[in-house]
Amino acid sequence: MSETTPDTYNYKVVRQFAIMTVVWGIVGMAVGVLIAAQLVWPALNFDTAWLSFGRLRPLHTNAVIFAFGGCALFSTSYYVVQRTCQVRLFAEPLVKFTFWGWQAVIVLAAITLPMGLTTAKEYAELEWPIDILITLVWVSYAIVFLGTVAKRKTPHIYVGNWFYMAFIITVAVLHVVNSAEIPVTISKSYSAYAGTVDAMVQWWYGHNAVGFFLTAGFLGIMYYFVPKQAERPIFSYRLSVVHFWALIATYMWAGGHHLHYSALPDWTQSVGMVMSLILLAPSWGGMINGMMTLSGAWHKLRTDPVLRFLVVSLSFYGMSTFEGPMMSIKTVNALSHNTDWTIGHVHAGALGWVAMISIGAVYHMIPKLFGKASMYSVKLINTHFWLATVGVVLYIAAMWVNGILQGLMWRAVNQDGTLTYSFVESLEASYFGYVVRVIGGIFFLAGMLVMAYNVWQTVRSNSSAPALASSAA
Ligand code: HEM
Ligand code: HEM
Repeated sequence: MSETTPDTYNYKVVRQFAIMTVVWGIVGMAVGVLIAAQLVWPALNFDTAWLSFGRLRPLHTNAVIFAFGGCALFSTSYYVVQRTCQVRLFAEPLVKFTFWGWQAVIVLAAITLPMGLTTAKEYAELEWPIDILITLVWVSYAIVFLGTVAKRKTPHIYVGNWFYMAFIITVAVLHVVNSAEIPVTISKSYSAYAGTVDAMVQWWYGHNAVGFFLTAGFLGIMYYFVPKQAERPIFSYRLSVVHFWALIATYMWAGGHHLHYSALPDWTQSVGMVMSLILLAPSWGGMINGMMTLSGAWHKLRTDPVLRFLVVSLSFYGMSTFEGPMMSIKTVNALSHNTDWTIGHVHAGALGWVAMISIGAVYHMIPKLFGKASMYSVKLINTHFWLATVGVVLYIAAMWVNGILQGLMWRAVNQDGTLTYSFVESLEASYFGYVVRVIGGIFFLAGMLVMAYNVWQTVRSNSSAPALASSAA
């Protein structure tokens, strides 16, 4: 594939989204560190409503998932689809709209959530006018992406693009169905669904947001960037096709595991559990496909910290997709639900998998996008890698300990049937873990700041790569 393509590819939008990935990563994680610190020192809400945990928590989740993760997905998907289809992005005005429209959604979220304006649906908190803007941006994204695939010059569609397409189409369906609501004022609406149906639709959405936003899209990243960075072909193309169909067919049915022991019909909960257990197979199939791509190139891990980010992200993916099916077993969920174990699982996936693979992909792209020979400092990438890895490990280990401790304390009963511990006692026992989490979060955030410095120095350096310089135009 040719590297010197000044006019063939639209790299401007890829650069814009790549830079915003770093910016929103820092913002979202800084809010994460703040709310983690509030759980240790509650006074950090300064008695101010818009700084309270309840308002900043959804700001954190929206910022890291949709702003940081979303920008990483836009950036990499636009990069990958152009290079693997060997054509420029389709529909230039819509491309621009996806960038500015998405940034507008993020800014509106950053204003309305601290104001307390929310639909109260997790990961779908934004009120109806913003929902409409999201729909417009997303439909434009679909047109751009599918249009680019349709006008490709290559005979077949590279597997990474299959994952991106599944992500784009499914997120559109999830968003439209789950956000069906009845507006009462400009800033208030009520869900179109009620009671158990509302809960079921919400967790069909919630789980598939994990499956398609936080997984399928990032698998698109894996299928392009791991082989590229390792300079090896993907381990098995056949496995990637099986992986794709098995994963998308199974994810849809697993959402019931979020509603165990609830008013949801029992058989629906069991379907959720069984499908979650089945999901282990395609998840690990994909992870193995990515890992084995390094066959014969393992030595590169010693010298290439970008590859290390990509590969370690796959091991966290493997870990969280093993843990998830275990947690979906009803008896295990009886212990884990509502405890910090869930939070640990979330961040093994979110920090270990989603953030680390995005970081690796951005480091891969930045020099190419800005026509530089390499990143400003490989040493700083290495520093970032260790800060991030130690940060995730501290975070999730603290939450596992806290989670199991809480689960066991809550269910402990005395001989006379009364509870052994009060809730506050379990909170006191969790204190140390919360402190460790803050430290882990600071490590991870510090790594992002190192990245921002490295990216900034790379962009402004004079080390143009002669063969690539023109493509930055
Ligand atoms: C510096 C890094 C981070 C820190 C310190 C952090 C901290 C936190 C804290 C304190 C909570 C609230 C936990 C609770 O309610 O008990 C939370 C929730 C959450 N965070 Fe993070 N976070 C970080 C990065 C991320 C990233 C990068 C993502 C996603 C890509 C993410 C996704 C989430 C999600 C989905 C939840 C809600 C979990 C649930 O409801 O079960 N976080 N985070
Ligand atoms: C085979 C794959 C997976 C399965 C079967 C699975 C299963 C589960 C289960 C059983 C829960 C706990 C539900 C509860 O008790 O409330 C959960 C929560 C969660 N998982 Fe996973 N998980 C998987 C992979 C992942 C990955 C890769 C990520 C992130 C990238 C992730 C993100 C989350 C989030 C954000 C929640 C919290 C939802 C909430 O309550 O707000 N999961 N998952």
